[in-house]
Amino acid sequence: QINEAEAVLFSVPSYACQRRTTLDNCNTTLTDALSLLAENAELSEEDGRGVAFRRAAAVLKALPVRVTAMSQLKGLPCLGDHSLRVIKDILENEASSEVESTKHSERFKALKVLTGIFGVGPRTAERWIREGIHNLHQLRESGVTLNRAQQAGLEHYDDLNQQVTKAEADAIAEIVQKAVDSVLPSAQITLAGGFRRGKQTGHDVDFLITHPEEGREVGLMPKVVSWLESQGFLLYQKVTRNSYLEVNDGPGRPSSNMDRFERCFSIFKLAKREERGTKVTENTVKTKDSVGAHMHSETDQSPPSHSHELDQHDSTNRRWRAVRVDLVVSPISQFAFALLGWTGSKLFERELRRWAGHEKAMSLSSHALYDNKQSRYLRAASEEEIFTHLGLEYIPPSERNA
Ligand code: CTP
Ligand code: MN
Ligand code: MN
Ligand code: MN
Repeated sequence: QINEAEAVLFSVPSYACQRRTTLDNCNTTLTDALSLLAENAELSEEDGRGVAFRRAAAVLKALPVRVTAMSQLKGLPCLGDHSLRVIKDILENEASSEVESTKHSERFKALKVLTGIFGVGPRTAERWIREGIHNLHQLRESGVTLNRAQQAGLEHYDDLNQQVTKAEADAIAEIVQKAVDSVLPSAQITLAGGFRRGKQTGHDVDFLITHPEEGREVGLMPKVVSWLESQGFLLYQKVTRNSYLEVNDGPGRPSSNMDRFERCFSIFKLAKREERGTKVTENTVKTKDSVGAHMHSETDQSPPSHSHELDQHDSTNRRWRAVRVDLVVSPISQFAFALLGWTGSKLFERELRRWAGHEKAMSLSSHALYDNKQSRYLRAASEEEIFTHLGLEYIPPSERNA
């Protein structure tokens, strides 16, 4: 039992980008509770409330000990009345009534299930709920029109809601590397997102693609996607064109934090582990009935005999699974910004931009850093240089898990 006098007070800086947040979290009970309220706020399109809960959770993630008494929280930043009330409830009663009632509410459950479909955001889910659609069965029966992304999302729902493992991410990396090597040798791929932060699982796999010579990356994405498609690796893809140069916001200033790289949201068809060779090359030529990896060619005598329809509904007998993959192409001159922007966590990114704007009068995006006082862009060839420009201590990816 810790009393007030003995309570250790921690000094925690208020921006998440000033802190080192590893994956070791001593306060998972509290942070899970606050994250659930954040998620509920985000699903209800109350972003301000969502961020407040995310910031509170992030402060607790950064603490080196488990919180057992409210007195330990004195002086900590970002803990608003609402978050403190939730924490107090859990410390005193083992659970927060607000969290429990939210978790079990029909509305939250329906929002979770429906936004769990790739291509479905909170607004669409909300509309469907108003129309009486609360689950996948009701959605399938409803006859509402689904766009191409949502159709793929519904079809591969179970796979896409199952965590991607690091081994699967590595297997996808080999495939993407091979695709890039085939269409533009010496182009480089880098694993970003949660896996770069050291997570062992994720909801998708994120890659950045660049080329050491500026300009050579132009037009790369359609070629990479065509190659992947020709090899049977894609279940779904949508490429969005780079619009960074097309959008003119006046004298060289990026208008928003939305990035405008050429990117591809995709769903990969990944052969299951026992079906995968140790190398992709082996994989692609191995067998003709290895559905995830067959070659299509004019001379192929036996087209894939595997019935997709049968496979689809019997995941245990399937030889592949669907995996969400994000691909982003960046010119080398913007690569450090792209890498920093695509490594996350989402809160860490948000806090970096807030720090830049509020504390340094700078605008940070995944493309560039603009100094409003000097009215010029600050170049950077590495993430370290960007932190230096921002007057921040360098935080490595494994410590950006805010
Ligand atoms: N990102 C972005 N623009 C988007 C989507 C994502 O800049 N339209 C960035 C996010 O800010 C994040 C990174 O891409 O830094 C990865 O996003 P995401 O894959 O959603 O999250 P992860 O941290 O990788 O977590 P998970 O393991 O759940 O995929
Ligand atoms: Mn990710
Ligand atoms: Mn995510
Ligand atoms: Mn992603």
